[in-house]
Amino acid sequence: MQEADMQKVDELVGRLVGDLGAGVSGVLVVLGDHLGLFRAMMDGRPRSSMELAETTGLTERNVREWLAAMAAADYISYDEASNKFAMTPEQALVFANEDSPAFFGGAFEIVQSMWMDEPKVEEAFRTGRGLGWHEHSTCLFRGTERFFRPGYNSHLVNEWIPALQGVKEKLERGAEVADVGCGHGASTILMAKAFPKSHFHGFDYHAPSIERAKRAAQEAGVGDRVTFRQASAKEFPGGNYDLVAMFDCLHDMGDPVGAGRHIRETMAKGGTWMIVEPFAHDGLKDNLNPVGRVYYGASTMICTPASMAQEVGLGLGAQAGEMKLRKVARDAGYSHFRRASETPFNMIFEVRA
Ligand SMILES: C[S@@+](CC[C@H](N)C(=O)[O-])C[C@H]1O[C@@H](n2cnc3c(N)ncnc32)[C@H](O)[C@@H]1O
Repeated sequence: MQEADMQKVDELVGRLVGDLGAGVSGVLVVLGDHLGLFRAMMDGRPRSSMELAETTGLTERNVREWLAAMAAADYISYDEASNKFAMTPEQALVFANEDSPAFFGGAFEIVQSMWMDEPKVEEAFRTGRGLGWHEHSTCLFRGTERFFRPGYNSHLVNEWIPALQGVKEKLERGAEVADVGCGHGASTILMAKAFPKSHFHGFDYHAPSIERAKRAAQEAGVGDRVTFRQASAKEFPGGNYDLVAMFDCLHDMGDPVGAGRHIRETMAKGGTWMIVEPFAHDGLKDNLNPVGRVYYGASTMICTPASMAQEVGLGLGAQAGEMKLRKVARDAGYSHFRRASETPFNMIFEVRA
């Protein structure tokens, strides 16, 4: 072994103290989210630990320690003179307001599932058999819905669909739409609300997600125009679809090329396949940044094992990048492939036969 440069060791350990704090804070964010602590402070009014414990019906000594930890993370503000805690409007948007575009609550539920399922992933590394999406802890499914929904709320109807040639007009007139790998149906329901003359069909191979999506559609009042059915991406029923959408799920599939071929058979003439995938550059070096760090981590623990657990087991990974996605579309028989839009977290592709 080469001799270590102790200054560089100090720098690395210094960074790790910050990372360790982030890891610990993540658990406390989930705790505060589940116990309603953030929501109880959403109005910005300063509170003592006793007041917050009374409002939430929780034990003051536990609440006091949580508040101290959140103040140390600077996720909640502390005023020494009054010994009270409050959330700034910005902190409330990130931690308390589920409808805000900056809401981050769901993200740490995904991380929670990574910790809980780590032994299963260890086994997947040893056997090479992968780990199916459905084999994860329930917090992954809920966290995924809550993590992605703010981005879909902000961009899907206003930017992504208008960026696809002729699609918005078709949806306004009345079209048939499939949302494949729809999970809890957040994107399906959002589109159904925006385009009342169209019909939407959500498919996912994970039965509990489909059950949750059905309930969500009823609650949202769009149950008459939205159907959800358990089906894999290679087998969902055809319906002459004008648009087949896939949100953050193509890379989770073992056989994305096979899925693409099936989609081509289910589409109406001139139909569009919209692929929404995590943002990534083509080369690994270009993805070595904070967003890539999150996505490669999730991909190691969730997406790549999920794909490897299915037939073919291509293992695209959550940081596949445009070049590999273009090849999937080409191998599935499509001639048109265009990046229609992007955000710091997503790339949106327009694919046509
Ligand atoms: C990361 S989640 C995305 C869920 C949803 N589209 C969203 O954006 O919230 C990936 C989804 O793909 C689904 N999935 C994975 N492989 C599938 C397959 N072969 N056929 C259908 N769905 C699949 C999983 O069950 C899961 O719901």
